[in-house]
Amino acid sequence: MHTLTLAASKGGVGKTTLSSAIAVEAARKHQVGLYDLDPQQSLARWHELRANGDNISIIEARSAEDALSAATEQGCDLLIIDTPPALMLAIQPAIEIADLVVIPCKPSPIDVESIDPTVELAQTAGRPFVFVVNMVPTQGGAGLTKGTREFLKFNGDVMPQAVSQRLPYTAAMASGKSGPEVERDKKCAGEIQTLWRAISRKLHGLGK
Ligand SMILES: Nc1ncnc2c1ncn2[C@@H]1O[C@H](COP(=O)(O)OP(=O)(O)OP(=O)(O)O)[C@@H](O)[C@H]1O
Ligand SMILES: [Mg+2]
Repeated sequence: MHTLTLAASKGGVGKTTLSSAIAVEAARKHQVGLYDLDPQQSLARWHELRANGDNISIIEARSAEDALSAATEQGCDLLIIDTPPALMLAIQPAIEIADLVVIPCKPSPIDVESIDPTVELAQTAGRPFVFVVNMVPTQGGAGLTKGTREFLKFNGDVMPQAVSQRLPYTAAMASGKSGPEVERDKKCAGEIQTLWRAISRKLHGLGK
Protein backbone atom coordinates (compact mmCIF):
# COMPACT_ATOMS: atom_id res chain seq x y z
CA MET A 1 0.00 0.00 0.00
CA HIS A 2 1.14 3.54 -0.72
CA THR A 3 0.48 6.53 1.51
CA LEU A 4 0.11 10.02 0.11
CA THR A 5 -0.02 12.93 2.55
CA LEU A 6 -1.25 16.32 1.39
CA ALA A 7 0.25 18.97 3.61
CA ALA A 8 0.93 22.70 3.66
CA SER A 9 1.29 25.04 6.58
CA LYS A 10 -0.62 27.61 4.54
CA GLY A 11 -4.41 27.38 4.66
CA GLY A 12 -6.64 27.30 1.61
CA VAL A 13 -4.09 26.09 -0.92
CA GLY A 14 -6.17 23.12 -2.07
CA LYS A 15 -5.13 20.21 0.17
CA THR A 16 -8.71 18.97 0.56
CA THR A 17 -9.77 19.70 -3.02
CA LEU A 18 -6.78 17.86 -4.45
CA SER A 19 -7.14 14.99 -1.94
CA SER A 20 -10.68 14.38 -3.17
CA ALA A 21 -9.90 14.81 -6.87
CA ILE A 22 -6.87 12.50 -6.65
CA ALA A 23 -8.92 9.97 -4.68
CA VAL A 24 -11.61 9.83 -7.36
CA GLU A 25 -9.06 9.48 -10.13
CA ALA A 26 -7.02 6.85 -8.28
CA ALA A 27 -10.18 4.90 -7.36
CA ARG A 28 -10.61 3.91 -11.01
CA LYS A 29 -7.95 1.28 -10.36
CA HIS A 30 -7.26 1.33 -6.64
CA GLN A 31 -9.01 0.78 -3.36
CA VAL A 32 -8.56 4.19 -1.75
CA GLY A 33 -8.71 5.01 1.96
CA LEU A 34 -9.09 8.61 3.09
CA TYR A 35 -7.89 9.75 6.50
CA ASP A 36 -8.96 13.26 7.46
CA LEU A 37 -6.64 14.67 10.07
CA ASP A 38 -8.14 18.15 9.88
CA PRO A 39 -10.49 19.05 12.78
CA GLN A 40 -12.60 20.89 10.17
CA GLN A 41 -13.34 17.42 8.67
CA SER A 42 -14.02 18.83 5.20
CA LEU A 43 -12.81 15.71 3.43
CA ALA A 44 -14.83 13.42 5.71
CA ARG A 45 -17.94 15.54 5.07
CA TRP A 46 -17.23 15.43 1.33
CA HIS A 47 -17.12 11.66 1.54
CA GLU A 48 -20.40 11.53 3.48
CA LEU A 49 -22.06 13.39 0.63
CA ARG A 50 -20.66 10.97 -1.89
CA ALA A 51 -22.88 8.12 -2.99
CA ASN A 52 -21.61 4.73 -1.86
CA GLY A 53 -20.48 2.16 -4.31
CA ASP A 54 -17.06 3.26 -5.40
CA ASN A 55 -13.62 2.29 -4.18
CA ILE A 56 -13.22 5.14 -1.71
CA SER A 57 -13.69 4.70 2.02
CA ILE A 58 -13.11 6.90 5.03
CA ILE A 59 -10.63 5.49 7.52
CA GLU A 60 -11.65 6.08 11.13
CA ALA A 61 -8.55 6.17 13.29
CA ARG A 62 -7.04 8.01 16.23
CA SER A 63 -3.67 8.63 14.62
CA ALA A 64 -1.97 8.53 11.26
CA GLU A 65 -0.20 5.33 12.27
CA ASP A 66 -3.51 3.70 13.23
CA ALA A 67 -4.97 4.89 9.93
CA LEU A 68 -2.15 3.13 8.11
CA SER A 69 -2.88 -0.18 9.87
CA ALA A 70 -6.65 0.22 9.43
CA ALA A 71 -6.31 1.01 5.72
CA THR A 72 -4.08 -2.02 5.22
CA GLU A 73 -6.56 -4.24 7.11
CA GLN A 74 -9.41 -2.90 5.00
CA GLY A 75 -7.61 -3.87 1.82
CA CYS A 76 -6.75 -0.35 0.61
CA ASP A 77 -3.84 -0.01 -1.74
CA LEU A 78 -3.70 3.76 -1.48
CA LEU A 79 -4.12 5.86 1.66
CA ILE A 80 -4.60 9.60 1.17
CA ILE A 81 -4.18 11.77 4.26
CA ASP A 82 -5.58 15.29 4.28
CA THR A 83 -4.04 17.52 6.94
CA PRO A 84 -4.92 20.81 8.61
CA PRO A 85 -3.03 24.04 7.97
CA ALA A 86 -0.62 25.51 10.51
CA LEU A 87 -0.85 22.71 13.08
CA MET A 88 2.63 21.41 12.32
CA LEU A 89 2.75 19.12 15.36
CA ALA A 90 -0.44 17.43 14.19
CA ILE A 91 0.83 17.15 10.62
CA GLN A 92 4.19 15.65 11.57
CA PRO A 93 3.06 12.01 12.12
CA ALA A 94 1.18 12.07 8.80
CA ILE A 95 4.36 13.22 7.07
CA GLU A 96 6.48 10.63 8.86
CA ILE A 97 4.40 7.74 7.51
CA ALA A 98 4.00 9.13 3.99
CA ASP A 99 5.58 7.46 1.00
CA LEU A 100 5.18 10.82 -0.69
CA VAL A 101 4.20 14.24 0.65
CA VAL A 102 2.29 16.43 -1.79
CA ILE A 103 2.60 20.13 -1.02
CA PRO A 104 0.07 22.25 -2.91
CA CYS A 105 1.07 25.85 -3.48
CA LYS A 106 -0.82 28.71 -5.10
CA PRO A 107 1.01 30.86 -7.63
CA SER A 108 1.46 33.79 -5.28
CA PRO A 109 4.40 35.27 -3.38
CA ILE A 110 2.67 34.91 0.00
CA ASP A 111 2.09 31.21 -0.65
CA VAL A 112 5.60 30.36 -1.81
CA GLU A 113 6.97 32.13 1.27
CA SER A 114 5.04 29.66 3.43
CA ILE A 115 6.45 26.38 2.17
CA ASP A 116 9.43 26.15 4.54
CA PRO A 117 7.80 24.54 7.63
CA THR A 118 6.30 21.75 5.51
CA VAL A 119 9.49 21.16 3.54
CA GLU A 120 11.47 21.07 6.80
CA LEU A 121 9.10 18.49 8.30
CA ALA A 122 9.44 16.26 5.23
CA GLN A 123 13.21 16.64 5.14
CA THR A 124 13.57 15.96 8.87
CA ALA A 125 11.43 12.85 8.49
CA GLY A 126 13.41 11.83 5.40
CA ARG A 127 10.24 11.61 3.33
CA PRO A 128 10.13 12.50 -0.37
CA PHE A 129 7.95 15.46 -1.31
CA VAL A 130 6.66 17.19 -4.43
CA PHE A 131 5.01 20.53 -5.01
CA VAL A 132 1.80 20.88 -7.00
CA VAL A 133 0.99 24.36 -8.23
CA ASN A 134 -2.75 24.76 -7.71
CA MET A 135 -5.30 27.41 -8.63
CA VAL A 136 -3.39 28.67 -11.63
CA PRO A 137 -5.49 31.39 -13.31
CA THR A 138 -6.73 30.30 -16.72
CA GLN A 139 -6.22 33.86 -17.95
CA GLY A 140 -3.36 36.13 -16.99
CA GLY A 141 -0.87 35.65 -14.19
CA ALA A 142 1.61 33.72 -16.36
CA GLY A 143 4.52 35.63 -14.85
CA LEU A 144 3.46 34.83 -11.30
CA THR A 145 3.01 31.17 -12.12
CA LYS A 146 6.42 30.97 -13.81
CA GLY A 147 8.04 32.75 -10.86
CA THR A 148 6.33 30.39 -8.42
CA ARG A 149 7.56 27.33 -10.32
CA GLU A 150 11.10 28.67 -10.44
CA PHE A 151 11.10 29.42 -6.72
CA LEU A 152 9.67 26.00 -5.87
CA LYS A 153 12.22 24.24 -8.11
CA PHE A 154 15.01 25.55 -5.88
CA ASN A 155 13.37 23.72 -3.00
CA GLY A 156 12.32 20.41 -4.53
CA ASP A 157 10.48 18.64 -7.35
CA VAL A 158 7.56 20.43 -8.93
CA MET A 159 4.94 18.33 -10.69
CA PRO A 160 4.93 19.42 -14.35
CA GLN A 161 1.12 19.31 -14.35
CA ALA A 162 -0.38 22.25 -12.51
CA VAL A 163 -4.04 22.47 -11.54
CA SER A 164 -5.96 25.45 -12.87
CA GLN A 165 -8.41 27.60 -11.00
CA ARG A 166 -11.71 26.26 -12.30
CA LEU A 167 -15.21 26.54 -10.90
CA PRO A 168 -16.00 22.80 -11.11
CA TYR A 169 -13.31 22.07 -8.52
CA THR A 170 -15.12 24.31 -6.03
CA ALA A 171 -18.70 23.44 -7.01
CA ALA A 172 -18.08 19.69 -6.92
CA MET A 173 -17.29 19.65 -3.21
CA ALA A 174 -20.89 20.46 -2.28
CA SER A 175 -22.11 17.20 -3.79
CA GLY A 176 -19.32 14.86 -2.77
CA LYS A 177 -17.91 14.82 -6.27
CA SER A 178 -14.66 15.91 -7.88
CA GLY A 179 -14.14 18.67 -10.46
CA PRO A 180 -13.82 16.16 -13.33
CA GLU A 181 -17.10 14.53 -12.30
CA VAL A 182 -19.19 17.71 -12.57
CA GLU A 183 -17.63 19.64 -15.46
CA ARG A 184 -19.05 19.79 -18.96
CA ASP A 185 -15.74 19.85 -20.81
CA LYS A 186 -12.79 17.62 -19.97
CA LYS A 187 -10.46 20.32 -18.71
CA CYS A 188 -10.33 19.32 -15.04
CA ALA A 189 -10.26 15.66 -16.04
CA GLY A 190 -7.22 16.16 -18.25
CA GLU A 191 -5.19 17.86 -15.54
CA ILE A 192 -6.17 15.51 -12.72
CA GLN A 193 -5.48 12.42 -14.85
CA THR A 194 -2.04 13.71 -15.81
CA LEU A 195 -1.30 14.77 -12.24
CA TRP A 196 -2.34 11.41 -10.79
CA ARG A 197 -0.34 9.50 -13.41
CA ALA A 198 2.78 11.49 -12.48
CA ILE A 199 2.21 11.02 -8.74
CA SER A 200 1.58 7.33 -9.27
CA ARG A 201 4.79 6.95 -11.31
CA LYS A 202 6.65 8.76 -8.56
CA LEU A 203 5.16 6.47 -5.87
CA HIS A 204 6.10 3.35 -7.84
CA GLY A 205 9.55 4.76 -8.59
CA LEU A 206 10.23 5.03 -4.86
CA GLY A 207 10.91 1.32 -4.91
CA LYS A 208 8.33 0.26 -2.37
N1 LIG B 1 -8.05 24.27 -8.54
C1 LIG B 1 -9.02 24.95 -7.93
N2 LIG B 1 -9.89 25.69 -8.64
C2 LIG B 1 -10.87 26.41 -8.05
N3 LIG B 1 -11.06 26.46 -6.72
C3 LIG B 1 -10.21 25.74 -5.96
C4 LIG B 1 -9.16 24.94 -6.50
N4 LIG B 1 -8.50 24.36 -5.48
C5 LIG B 1 -9.11 24.76 -4.36
N5 LIG B 1 -10.13 25.58 -4.63
C6 LIG B 1 -11.02 26.28 -3.67
O1 LIG B 1 -10.17 27.02 -2.78
C7 LIG B 1 -10.66 26.93 -1.44
C8 LIG B 1 -9.61 26.26 -0.56
O2 LIG B 1 -9.43 24.94 -1.02
P1 LIG B 1 -9.27 23.74 0.01
O3 LIG B 1 -10.29 23.81 1.08
O4 LIG B 1 -9.14 22.51 -0.78
O5 LIG B 1 -7.85 24.14 0.62
P2 LIG B 1 -7.16 23.55 1.91
O6 LIG B 1 -5.70 23.72 1.71
O7 LIG B 1 -7.65 22.19 2.17
O8 LIG B 1 -7.70 24.55 3.02
P3 LIG B 1 -7.50 24.37 4.61
O9 LIG B 1 -6.09 24.75 4.86
O10 LIG B 1 -8.49 25.35 5.20
O11 LIG B 1 -7.79 22.95 4.94
C9 LIG B 1 -11.96 26.15 -1.51
O12 LIG B 1 -13.01 27.08 -1.63
C10 LIG B 1 -11.82 25.34 -2.80
O13 LIG B 1 -13.07 25.05 -3.38
MG1 LIG C 1 -8.51 21.39 3.91
